[in-house]
Amino acid sequence: MTDGIDHDSQALAREVIARCQALARFSEDAGSIRRTFLCEPMRQCHQEIAGWVAPLGATSRIDAVGNLRIVYPAVAAPAEAEAGAPRLFIGSHLDTVPDAGVYDGILGVVLGIALLSAIHGRKLPFAVEAVGFSEEEGIRFGTPFIGSRALAGTLDEELLNRQDAQGVSIRKAIADFGLNPAEIAQETISEDVLGYLEFHIEQGPVLENAGRPLGVVEAIAGQSRLQFTFVGRSNHVGTTPMNLRHDALAAAAEFISAVEHRARTTSGLVATVGAIQANPGAANVIAGETRLSLDVRHQYDDARNTAVDYFIRNAEDIAARRKLKVRQQTLMDQPAVSMDPFLVGQAHEAVGKAGCEPYRMVSGAGHDAMILAAKVPSAMIFLRTPGGISHHPSESVDVRDVARAIDCGVHLLDQLASSSEFQRKTQHA
Ligand code: GLV
Ligand code: MN
Ligand code: MN
Repeated sequence: MTDGIDHDSQALAREVIARCQALARFSEDAGSIRRTFLCEPMRQCHQEIAGWVAPLGATSRIDAVGNLRIVYPAVAAPAEAEAGAPRLFIGSHLDTVPDAGVYDGILGVVLGIALLSAIHGRKLPFAVEAVGFSEEEGIRFGTPFIGSRALAGTLDEELLNRQDAQGVSIRKAIADFGLNPAEIAQETISEDVLGYLEFHIEQGPVLENAGRPLGVVEAIAGQSRLQFTFVGRSNHVGTTPMNLRHDALAAAAEFISAVEHRARTTSGLVATVGAIQANPGAANVIAGETRLSLDVRHQYDDARNTAVDYFIRNAEDIAARRKLKVRQQTLMDQPAVSMDPFLVGQAHEAVGKAGCEPYRMVSGAGHDAMILAAKVPSAMIFLRTPGGISHHPSESVDVRDVARAIDCGVHLLDQLASSSEFQRKTQHA
């Protein structure tokens, strides 16, 4: 033991980090990480992981929405007999933002697989299914959680018809990857799934500031994503006087400042314009159209909805004053979600057994757990994020914290395997 951390867990933690780094080479971009929904590098990522889990006696498949599903059978249940057996899901996502770090999402998938190694072939009263979700970030289609929505049964027709910038629908992207969108409904999880656990880097500075390696998530903040389009009139920048312009980029700039001001002056609110496209996009042409993303988050749904209403009115006021038009489209309205109190209590206990003082917190980042929580008891454990940096290539994690998370995960599996309350859930599921 070093720092009270088990040697085996430290070796596994080094392997987890090396594996996360190995997956980083499967990218759409040379020299940086980008792996969006069902791109070809995702297939290589699946193949690499499938090679790691075969020696553990686990089976892997790609489901109809491109999630990697790895099943480690329950005690006395051969893999072939697993269909319908009670299962505990452990997972996170395999897609990334552009110019991503190595660990967001990926760590939770790889750590879930490390837990299968850490129990040394021991079988539990339930199967463990490690899941690598195909899409959580919402980059390709502007809509996040495509992978987890399929399991929750909420990937509806409207969503399947959404298109990416090239006009390819989600449905077509699935078919192009060699999967059958008609089979998505069969992936909806049923009573045989006992719960969902997700390990994830915190992606913020709270645990580091508190000096705690691991956090227990009690709730995940709600989020809204919208798209605004300001439509003005393109014209010559040299000949059009300032008072006779209908500049869609100047309107967008005013809107962005208003969004920032409102969020800075509203407790607990975060609101961000993270992407903007100006057309035609030339130095000597007044922009005739701008398209902006807006992401709004708050722990309390009322506060988030009030802010969204304000932003829509504000965009309309700016457009009216500048004699432009504005259109807006809501891409996502995801309420805040509480984690399951029983699993939160179990996670708290397991963090303590791993030698860490647990820290209870609310997640400002969205996670697959917020989608699965609507269907099954769900819980999340956060790992401290050095510098609080994420969605950036310098994202990192401390190998000792990964080892602590592995210790914690093994304790948690053992607790659930011997918990009468969890066994009751198993029997009545
Ligand atoms: C996912 O990373 C999100 O919170 O946007
Ligand atoms: Mn992310
Ligand atoms: Mn993530």
